[in-house]
Parts: sequence; C-alpha cells; structure tokens
Amino acid sequence: MSGSLTFTIIKPDAVKSGYIGEILSCINKGGFKISGLKLLQLTLAEAEAFYGVHRERPFFSGLVSFMTSGPIVVAVLEKENAINDFRALIGSTNPEEAAEGTIRKQFAKSMQQNAVHGSDSDENAAIEVAFFFATSERF
Ligand code: RTP
Ligand code: MG
Repeated sequence: MSGSLTFTIIKPDAVKSGYIGEILSCINKGGFKISGLKLLQLTLAEAEAFYGVHRERPFFSGLVSFMTSGPIVVAVLEKENAINDFRALIGSTNPEEAAEGTIRKQFAKSMQQNAVHGSDSDENAAIEVAFFFATSERF
C-alpha cells in the first residue's frame, strides 16, 4: 500500500499534440487532486539528473534529448494509494501493451514518447516533487 502522493510529467510529445487539458481531465476523473502544477522546459542537466537512475541504459541519451525537446507539465498528485493507482491509470511503459482506456493507450506515440511519467515508489515521489516544487508552490 503506497502513500497519498505521486508526481507526474506530461511529456513533450503530449504537450506538442495539445493533450494537456485532456490528460489533466483524465487525472481528475481518476480521483486525483492536483496540488502543484507548472509548465516548463527541462535543461540538459536537469533531465540527466531527473533520469539519473537510467544513466547506464542504452536509451538514456535518446530519453534526455526527447525530454528536453519542448515544454512539459509537472504536477503533484494526491489520492489514497497514489503510486499504484496512478500507474494503473497511465498504463504500461510501451503504449502497445497499455490497457484500453489508460492515458498511455489514448495519448502515447511510442515506448519513448509515452505521454506521461508516474513515480514508481513513495521514496521517488518525494524526491521528484522536491526536484520541481518549492513548499510555497504546493497547495
Ligand atoms: P516513467 O518513469 O516515465 O513513468 O516510465 P516508466 O516508469 O513506465 O518507465 P522507466 O523504465 O522508468 O523508463 C523511463 C522512460 O524511459 C523511456 N524508455 N525508453 N527501451 C526503451 O526505448 C525505453 N525504455 C524506457 C520511456 O519514455 C520511459 O517512460
Ligand atoms: Mg519510471
């Protein structure tokens, strides 16, 4: 059972395609409260730091250049069992494997350009929220 907080990114592909509103709507309909929200573009150094756990993976440089390619939306989400429920709402990393009705099934283009990020643990959610939000930007 996870805690009540998770963190999401609406990735550059989905922002470029004009899906911000529809994805935020899915998030609200999924029962999540949005308690922090902003639009920004990652620098190379920020993207490398955010995805630091994947540094040795073959897809790392492609991932970093994709994530810095345009603006993103970052958000803090709250709900009971937030980590697991949000990962269920977004679906599998590869949109071809994502269940019908999930955010990635509806809006993702590919394994890399997969529309949204969701934290994978309570520990990482706390780290990711602190990476993007000051206490004064959370409500
Ligand atoms: P995320 O962190 O973005 O919520 O995605 P995830 O947990 O479902 O997937 P993860 O394994 O953490 O991978 C992070 C992001 O890297 C890209 N990726 N590309 N084989 C590949 O080409 C590959 N594998 C992962 C995706 O954008 C993935 O969301
Ligand atoms: Mg992940």
